[in-house]
Amino acid sequence: MPDAVADALEMVAAWAGRPVSHTTIKGGLSHHIARVETEDGDRWLLRVLDPRIAATGLGIPLEQEIANTVLAASTGVGAQVLHKLPGALILEYIDGVTLDAPAVRDEIGKIAKACRALHAGPRFGNDFSIFRKHADFVALCKANSLKLPDGYEDWTPAVAEIEQALAVRPMRTVPCHNDLLPENFIKAGGVVRIVDYQLSGNNDPCFELGDLAAEADFDPDDVERLTLAYFDDAAPAARVRLNLIMSNLTWTLWFVVHHGLTPQHRDFDYNAEAADKFAQAVRDLKDPGFGRLIDAVRR
Ligand SMILES: Nc1ncnc2c1ncn2[C@@H]1O[C@H](COP(=O)(O)OP(=O)(O)O)[C@@H](O)[C@H]1O
Ligand SMILES: [Mg+2]
Repeated sequence: MPDAVADALEMVAAWAGRPVSHTTIKGGLSHHIARVETEDGDRWLLRVLDPRIAATGLGIPLEQEIANTVLAASTGVGAQVLHKLPGALILEYIDGVTLDAPAVRDEIGKIAKACRALHAGPRFGNDFSIFRKHADFVALCKANSLKLPDGYEDWTPAVAEIEQALAVRPMRTVPCHNDLLPENFIKAGGVVRIVDYQLSGNNDPCFELGDLAAEADFDPDDVERLTLAYFDDAAPAARVRLNLIMSNLTWTLWFVVHHGLTPQHRDFDYNAEAADKFAQAVRDLKDPGFGRLIDAVRR
């Protein structure tokens, strides 16, 4: 157990005023997460923030993440923040089922509702652009001599084309999570909650939808259902699909950077994950329908 986690557990016991036991939860490869419980049945979620995640650009600055977690809690979508410790949070333990990709496809209505509630809440203190993230990751890989997947930079002009097309009629930004892996959704009490604000920031809501669609392997029909559920209108589906491509293309490098710059996390095949995401992005970029998506968002 890292020292920071042991220290945080001691602070939780002091806060609770009783001894606590804990169970480590294997999550999304970044911070240290544990379920903490007392003998009399109280349960909390302890999130110990690893400063290396923000330092390598794999997450936003920790103070920002904490502030956004508090704002997301105020909408009822995020877990309630019960106590802030130095470098750690004690959160409401959401007693529910963590989703997987098939469950995300089955719960499109509830997920769209959760996204709308988060997006209607208070704006975050920072902005997030997947295009800036893409450029930052490419620069970071180069500065650290990390190998990009073969052919990665062949798509740089396509990234510029997508960015320009989306800018023709920009959408108002809203407070977004920006990293909606199935594992960040918990279904509880008939609704879907959203945890883990490591990459949150104000952004185009169509990135939120495209990103969650990419992470749950949505096909174009699923994207259309999600778009309709969120907007009450399927017209923005082309915008969501272009963001889906940007999610796969950019998060490819999240794995490259994670593999290269956080050597403490070596129990996971980052290269396979990067290759898989890149292959999905290339599949969509080479699709003859790509040009139609660009035309549709320009119109
Ligand atoms: N507040 C919570 N209540 C219950 N379970 C949670 C809570 N927050 C996270 N989890 C569980 O722990 C897992 C990892 O937590 P997460 O915050 O996503 O960390 P990571 O940064 O490692 O992805 C989630 O996928 C979910 O199953
Ligand atoms: Mg997570």
